[in-house]
Amino acid sequence: MKQFSFSIKTFGCQMNERDSEIMAQLLAEKGYVESMELEDADVVILNTCSIRAKAEQKAMSLLGVLRKVKKRRPGMKICVAGCVAQQEGEELCERMPHVDLVIGTQNIYELADLLEATRGASKVAIGMSDAYEIPAFIPTLPKLISHGELQSPFPARPFRKFLTIMQGCNNYCTYCVVPYTRGREISRKFKDIIEEAHVLVDAGVREITLLGQNVNSYGRTNPVTTDGSGYSFSQLLREVAAIQGLKRLRFTTSNPKDLSLELMRCFNEIEILCPQFHLPVQSGSNAVLSKMNRKYTRELYLQRVAELRSFRPDIALSTDVIVGFPGETDADFEETMELLEHVRFHSSFSFKYSDRPGTRSADFDDKVDEQVKSERLSRFQKRQDEICLEQNSLYVGKCLPVMIEKVTQDNMVGRTETNHIVHIEEKIECFPGDIVNVTIYHAGQHSLNGRIDFTSTTGLSS
Ligand code: 5AD
Ligand code: SF4
Repeated sequence: MKQFSFSIKTFGCQMNERDSEIMAQLLAEKGYVESMELEDADVVILNTCSIRAKAEQKAMSLLGVLRKVKKRRPGMKICVAGCVAQQEGEELCERMPHVDLVIGTQNIYELADLLEATRGASKVAIGMSDAYEIPAFIPTLPKLISHGELQSPFPARPFRKFLTIMQGCNNYCTYCVVPYTRGREISRKFKDIIEEAHVLVDAGVREITLLGQNVNSYGRTNPVTTDGSGYSFSQLLREVAAIQGLKRLRFTTSNPKDLSLELMRCFNEIEILCPQFHLPVQSGSNAVLSKMNRKYTRELYLQRVAELRSFRPDIALSTDVIVGFPGETDADFEETMELLEHVRFHSSFSFKYSDRPGTRSADFDDKVDEQVKSERLSRFQKRQDEICLEQNSLYVGKCLPVMIEKVTQDNMVGRTETNHIVHIEEKIECFPGDIVNVTIYHAGQHSLNGRIDFTSTTGLSS
């Protein structure tokens, strides 16, 4: 029997990365092999993102390239998954006749069967549903499949993994497509998450990142225990952290409005919870926050930042910012700049506002001029770059535990607990996932340089 090959191209967030990994595993279990090159594969899956106009355009232009490839190789199956697929559904097939399968964000577990349904002359399959519970999906043992490993410079040992704990979002920020592309918020069963975490750690995983659109509301919208009793995200964190052998725990992402004291306290009490927090602010202006339906004020955000830092002074904060939201005045934007000055984020992701189909803000009529948006974005990014450098310089001279990610002939690359990349221009006998103490001697905008501290790296702290 012919062995089919597949290749997955992932756009967008970590949710999508994890979904791609799940799809890769499902196909591998059915005997498919991963192909090095997208264009050589029998099955090509684009796991798309529609959060911003640019993200969607990227997937669309790759679909354009694949149209030509398919002319050369008509047997190739093209599948569109992810948020664009969820939003466009059947219309996508009408616009793009070379697409064989459109699969919604909640249907990835049916991928293999749906692909089978596309076999035979010009059959198109659509997998869309919205009645949803995240299945008790368990990664295969003994070899965990790390999708993308073939193309990745990192070795096969899966030392770091994402673990999805919830899907969807009920917040309805006025600019955001996620409630429409990922559906209503559903928390995964507590027992399934813990089992999956155990499987990962047993297979050698040392760092887990728990994933959800708004992890703070874990357990709030549906029962996550078999007896229907309540369970909070902080309790979940504590249980995962207690797994023997796990060295680092992270999570993403949180809405400032739901950030509880109970969770902030975890940063002080859970030893392996990394001092790193992504807390999207979006804007520093109360008028804009209100039009965005964010349900918090600039003052509340600043209070949360102060509280977080009181529990964990070395915490590295990052954020997301949108500039040029409809109606944003010069004065509103100045408030975002002031907030940046005040909080001094270790890093940030900043974007020009773009209309997304179906969102409320797409209908707002006070849109900001493109030129103004570009100017605001470059001013914000320039100042953030300077602050990154200033913040990173504070690590110089410090000795930090670094988890090794990559070992080459004569150097190594790893990450600090705060998620900073560290380049080490020397090498010792170790594997990805091992933790080495490193003294930082140079800070750049986006990474650090360090030397192994042999006095404290006595054997490996793995
Ligand atoms: N335009 C620009 N940026 C957006 N984001 C979400 N929706 C939009 C939009 N319509 C940004 C937000 C979010 C990040 C993932 O993408 O900052 O936190
Ligand atoms: Fe993009 Fe949001 Fe979908 Fe993630 S959930 S893929 S960021 S649109």
